[in-house]
Amino acid sequence: MTTSSLAYRVREAASTLRGRLPALPRVGIILGSGLGPLADEVENPTVVPYAEIPHFAVSTVSGHAGQLVGGTLEGVPVAVLRGRVHLYEGYSLQQITFPVRTLHRLGAEVLIITNAAGGLNPSFRAGDLMVLRDHINLPGLAGLNPLIGADEPELGVRFLDMSAPYDDELRARALAIGARAGVSVREGVYAVVAGPSYETRAEIRYLRTIGADAVGMSTVPEVIVARHERMRVLGISVITNVAATEENPVDVSHEEVLSVAERASAGLAAIVRGVLRSLNDPSSSDAAGGEA
Ligand code: HPA
Repeated sequence: MTTSSLAYRVREAASTLRGRLPALPRVGIILGSGLGPLADEVENPTVVPYAEIPHFAVSTVSGHAGQLVGGTLEGVPVAVLRGRVHLYEGYSLQQITFPVRTLHRLGAEVLIITNAAGGLNPSFRAGDLMVLRDHINLPGLAGLNPLIGADEPELGVRFLDMSAPYDDELRARALAIGARAGVSVREGVYAVVAGPSYETRAEIRYLRTIGADAVGMSTVPEVIVARHERMRVLGISVITNVAATEENPVDVSHEEVLSVAERASAGLAAIVRGVLRSLNDPSSSDAAGGEA
C-alpha cells in the first residue's frame, strides 16, 4: 500500500470517521433521491458532512444532502449515507464507490442500498417498491466498471464473481416484511444507465426486451464494490414513475421523482427497519412469516 493507493485513502477516511462516530457501523445504508427522511429516524445521531471526510465527493444534485449519519436503528449500529454522487455529475466510479469501501473498512458487513427508478415492467405503478433480484450494468458492459484500475489485492479480487450480487436471505426477508406491512413491494431486475437524460421510448423498449423491470442512474457501481469487499447486499428501488411508451406517452421530471420518492419513503423505512431487526433476531422475520 502506497500513500497514493485507494486502500490508503480509504484508511484515511475511515480513521477520520472513527474519531467522530460514537459506535462503528454494522450496516451501511445508502439513501437515494428523495429518500433522505429515514436518516432523520436514526437514534443518537452523529452527523458528519461529506465535506469533512477525506476523499468523499459532495453531490451537486437537489435531493442529495451529502451527510453521513451514524447512530442506531432498531438497536443496530448503522451509518446512513444521505445522498450519493453519480456518474452524470462527472465523478469517477472510484469516487462514487469510495464511501462503500469506507463503510466496510469501519466494519459494516451489510449494505442496504436504495434508489429512485423508472418502472419498465408494465405491472409496476408509481410508488411501488422493488427489491433487486439482479441488475444489468449497461455502462459496465460498455467499459465503465468501478473495478477498472490498479490491482489492489488488499481491497478484493481482480476478477469478481457477480452471478448473485444480491443476498437471497435479505431479499426474502424484505419481501416478507413488506407484504406483512401492507407495502406494495415487488421483485425485479434493475438496469443502470449513465443519465442524466431520461430514456427515449426506443431505449425503454430495448431495456424491457433485455429483461429489465426498472431503470435508474445509480446503485450498481456501489453494489459491485460492496461485493468486492464481500458485503451482503440488499437493494431496494422506489418506482417513482412509469416509463413512457407509444400507448402511454408520459413525461418524467426530477421534481416528480423526488415527490413520489418522498411519499414512498415511509414504506421503505418500514422494510429497512424490519430487515435491521431481523439481523439481531433472524427468527423474527423469516419468509415463513414470523412476527416482524
Ligand atoms: N429513468 C432513469 N432514472 C430514473 C427514472 C427513469 O425513468 N426515474 C427515476 N430515476
